[in-house]
Amino acid sequence: MTIKENAEAGSLLQEIYKEAGLDFLNIPKHIAIIMDGNGRWAKKRLMPRSLGHREGAEALRRTLKSCVEFGIHYLSVYVFSTENWKRPRKEIAFLMAFLKDIIINEIQEIDKEGVCVRCLGDLSALDDNLQKLIREAEAKTRDNDILQMNLMLNYGSRDEIVKACRHIAEDVVEKKIDSIDDINEDLLSGYLFTNGIPDPDIYIRTGGDYRMSNYLLWQSAYSELFFIDTLWPDFNRAELINVIKMFQKRDRRFGGLV
Ligand code: IPE
Ligand code: IPE
Ligand code: MG
Repeated sequence: MTIKENAEAGSLLQEIYKEAGLDFLNIPKHIAIIMDGNGRWAKKRLMPRSLGHREGAEALRRTLKSCVEFGIHYLSVYVFSTENWKRPRKEIAFLMAFLKDIIINEIQEIDKEGVCVRCLGDLSALDDNLQKLIREAEAKTRDNDILQMNLMLNYGSRDEIVKACRHIAEDVVEKKIDSIDDINEDLLSGYLFTNGIPDPDIYIRTGGDYRMSNYLLWQSAYSELFFIDTLWPDFNRAELINVIKMFQKRDRRFGGLV
């Protein structure tokens, strides 16, 4: 972007914030979402759970658009947890096939929007074809810098931290880490799937439950948490604006006194 284009984009963003009643000087950098409630959304309508997941994908499309509109740099969404393998085989098969369809059908549009896609989690457990699609989607969108969307897939924080510890131990044995004293918070962060990504400012769980279900436990140490009743398929731009508004009213102290 040229300096002029940059300034124009900045003033457009300023207009959008003003129109939404938001503070342009306090833009969250990273929003993380536990997209929960697809099944209940469908059940309420006497529909199969799979239709809830389809509507959930619509909500993700909307949310991605809104995050681009509001100049958010990172959006991390919980797509499939390390515990979701406990679900019926049929639902897992649907989710994996659906994910493939989404990647194949939407990557063009996502790329055009300037969105960089990353899939974070233990991808080795996914089928080869899905792994290949993920690698291609990541490669195609690697240089996009409007927004980075992290699809957290076969992701669990405990698994992530255990893998980081193993990797650190290996690097100590191989002398890539000189001394145990070099192991600190920054070093450990660098061994997580989220290496290089700033911690979430905003952490949302939809669907009415008050738990974190193994999502970004390390990274959310000082995130602002929002547990909202809306079922994920009903989440929209107005809800996002509302969350950003509440975020901007919060006093983040990070343990200090200011
Ligand atoms: C979240 O919705 C999506 C995934 C876990 C894939 P759920 O499928 O958990 O929906 P509920 O919580 O049963 O309503
Ligand atoms: C968390 O939701 C996982 C995703 C949204 C992908 P779950 O529905 O799996 O969480 P629990 O089982 O209610 O804790
Ligand atoms: Mg759920």
